[in-house]
Amino acid sequence: MDSRLLTCAGLCTGDVLCDVGTDHGYLPCYMIENGLCSKAYACDIAQGPLDSAIAHINERCLSDRITTVLSDGLDSVEKGDITDVVIAGMGGELIADIISRCGWLREDINLVLQPMTKPEVLRRRLYEQGFCVLRELACVSGRFVYSVMQVRCEKPNYGCTDEYLHYGLVKGETDDEKRYLKDRSNKLRTAAEGMIKGGKKSELGQKLLELSRLHE
Ligand SMILES: C[S@@+](CC[C@H](N)C(=O)[O-])C[C@H]1O[C@@H](n2cnc3c(N)ncnc32)[C@H](O)[C@@H]1O
Repeated sequence: MDSRLLTCAGLCTGDVLCDVGTDHGYLPCYMIENGLCSKAYACDIAQGPLDSAIAHINERCLSDRITTVLSDGLDSVEKGDITDVVIAGMGGELIADIISRCGWLREDINLVLQPMTKPEVLRRRLYEQGFCVLRELACVSGRFVYSVMQVRCEKPNYGCTDEYLHYGLVKGETDDEKRYLKDRSNKLRTAAEGMIKGGKKSELGQKLLELSRLHE
């Protein structure tokens, strides 16, 4: 369990976890062993990772509490008693696709999302689909800094501004949050400079450059 997955675990609120893209199954095992949930579903699109999860679950004698499911996103998972869905370690677009295909996520589910790339695409699509980011934290793990969002299906109480799309609701209160905002600013500046130099998208480049200055 790295700090990224620990942050995901900390944003879960209910008693039954569904971990989408579980890989080794570390998150459901940790949550059960630490009393953070009583039951879990460990899902993955591929049999290889699911076999690793099964081995890990059996090693820890947790097979009576964790059910493994071979599923593309949540396509083969029924809502049942699930209270929390974690989708971590995937690209922002893929996370958004998985959410948009699952109708029961619009019911009373606490969603915890950790995109590896394109968080701005995920934030836009959440907003457009009527999902509100309630809380967004940042955490440093190894050489990288990540954002972790707690999300629910309800009308967002903020606007879909460029600042929201690129920096999220990360407040910059902790060292990790400050580093996240700086990292986003650096990425925006690099993209903007490329556009301005190339001459093709210089108007968009100027806009991104201004946005990058918010947290440089
Ligand atoms: C990089 S691992 C992330 C593992 C863990 N969630 C984490 O954050 O450390 C990505 C996992 O997601 C799985 N995956 C990729 N696309 C998926 C999909 N559409 N539905 C379910 N699982 C998927 C992969 O097989 C892989 O095991």
